[in-house]
Amino acid sequence: MCGIVGAVAQRDVADILVEGLKRLEYRGYDSAGVAIVGHDDSLNRVRRLGKVQELADALKSEPLAGGTGIAHTRWATHGAPSESNAHPHTSNETIAVVHNGIIENHNELREKLQQFDYQFTSETDTEVITHLVHHELKTASSLMEAVQKTVKQLEGAYGTVVMDTRDKERVVVARSGSPLVIGYGLGENFIASDLMALLPVTRKFSYLEEGDVAEITRFDVTIVDKDGNSVEREAKESEVSHDAGDKGEYRHYMLKETYEQPTAIRNTLEGRLSGSQLNVDTFGAGADEIFKEIEHVQIIACGTSYHSGMVARYWLEAHAGVSCNIEIASEFRYRKSHVPKNALLVTISQSGETADTLAALRLAKDLGYKASLTICNVAGSSLVRESDLAFMTKAGAEIGVASTKAFTTQLVGLLMMTLALGKHNGMSEAKQAEIAHSILTLPNKLEEVLALAAPIEALAEDFADKHHALFLGRGDQYPIAMEGALKLKEISYIHAEAYAAGELKHGPLALIDAEMPVIVVAPQNDLIEKLKSNVEEVRARGGLMYVFADSKANFASDETMKVIDVPLCDDIIAPIVYTLPLQLLSYYVAIIKGTDVDQPRNLAKSVTVE
Ligand code: G6P
Repeated sequence: MCGIVGAVAQRDVADILVEGLKRLEYRGYDSAGVAIVGHDDSLNRVRRLGKVQELADALKSEPLAGGTGIAHTRWATHGAPSESNAHPHTSNETIAVVHNGIIENHNELREKLQQFDYQFTSETDTEVITHLVHHELKTASSLMEAVQKTVKQLEGAYGTVVMDTRDKERVVVARSGSPLVIGYGLGENFIASDLMALLPVTRKFSYLEEGDVAEITRFDVTIVDKDGNSVEREAKESEVSHDAGDKGEYRHYMLKETYEQPTAIRNTLEGRLSGSQLNVDTFGAGADEIFKEIEHVQIIACGTSYHSGMVARYWLEAHAGVSCNIEIASEFRYRKSHVPKNALLVTISQSGETADTLAALRLAKDLGYKASLTICNVAGSSLVRESDLAFMTKAGAEIGVASTKAFTTQLVGLLMMTLALGKHNGMSEAKQAEIAHSILTLPNKLEEVLALAAPIEALAEDFADKHHALFLGRGDQYPIAMEGALKLKEISYIHAEAYAAGELKHGPLALIDAEMPVIVVAPQNDLIEKLKSNVEEVRARGGLMYVFADSKANFASDETMKVIDVPLCDDIIAPIVYTLPLQLLSYYVAIIKGTDVDQPRNLAKSVTVE
């Protein structure tokens, strides 16, 4: 979604801002812009529809000099993608603003500002902030005070940065519902919506809390909380590596991140699971005391993270002796739900900033859950800060919009959670050791699976002219079928649906013909004979099948079925193992179709608005 970068420095900052925007491209956007206060105190702005590179090219012919500047990538919500709707927005050639989020009362504010003769030049909700700050500055004693007065009038979500040409020593920033991170340099300071943007210039960061307003100058950062009290927000060194945003030898981030999965899982296991010893403190201080009392788990997530939660439900109820419910965050947050006794709320999120998941966590705090735990990949993110417990997946930065290594490391975290809860609910030591051993085989097993890339690439040709696909699975492979379908639709724009194979007769069978490829995830397990009956139902209707199965499942390729031989693995880790071939399939289909693999149309990596 939208990205923000800002700087207050002595040196010219245009290149830093544009590089920052490039590092945020993965989040998804449709236009980009930059505004800088010139050495003569003029407000200079360049905006372009399309890629950040278009903006960079424009700046080559029209360079902007100056040390105080703000920049933005926009993902349209109010007003179509266009140059005039792109940020920064300005008021009276003095105030410039970038904004992430949605101002819900923008119509009302717009009418009020029009009465004061403010002229609007865009269709955005953001422009009201610009004119409001200008208006408030007529009576306020400082930019900080004007921004504080402005945000009090805003309803909705914002992460915003405000700059005034008459006071170019500072920018003022405010956060409510949309993350902002301050980057500390030497004699220069920065602001961004995601620390990835600032890694080339600093490694020291502090996150603003909800309701904070901060003034950033070259040498100082002053923060006040929502009640106007001065506060400190602890600055920490980031562990994210500077080159996390490089594709290296790979053609796309998605492919790089698919191949990084064995390492990401090794990193996620390190120091946490050895032999059958699980370090429960890895979920946070006091986790074991909380887990001891848990009788029910409510999982909340969106997108791919929702699918990992679906797998966890099978694991928790089968092995950990606790009941489990899983729900999409945008549904959970708007319905009245019953909270069972001793229930743990678990959110799952790659980014830790997904608006609906965060809202669900905040709602749950009032509902009487015993505690909250997040399984998350971004340290310092809102979900991590606002949850009682946190399990950090160590996937490293994930840039491709289609989630790969974040998903499989979430599953590893959820398996460890199954162990941690299971030991308090009668899981035998032998079972604990068996599951722990299976988890530890994962990195090597996934390396074997990645060797399937060549045959899967060849298979992808069959999908090039298809418009629809059906994915089938049973038990804990049903969510993997759903994840496979999501991947295919996200990046190759082929309409794909997943069904629990037992549901075939209740509708999807009507769709089966030679034009509808059917992908089946079929490891040998207790349900394999049931699944084989479903496969026969498809075959009898002339369907063409692609079956991902191990040698024990005993499928053979023929004219109606192509079997992809997946290495044998223990049952419990099979959902993780079978994810990778489906990721590779969607990747190679997208390559053939020529779509934008890492930044699929209309999608964003981190969905910070509802
Ligand atoms: C977006 C992304 C998905 C992701 C989902 C949930 O839709 O494109 O890849 O699964 O958000 O994001 P989260 O950061 O909460 O896991």
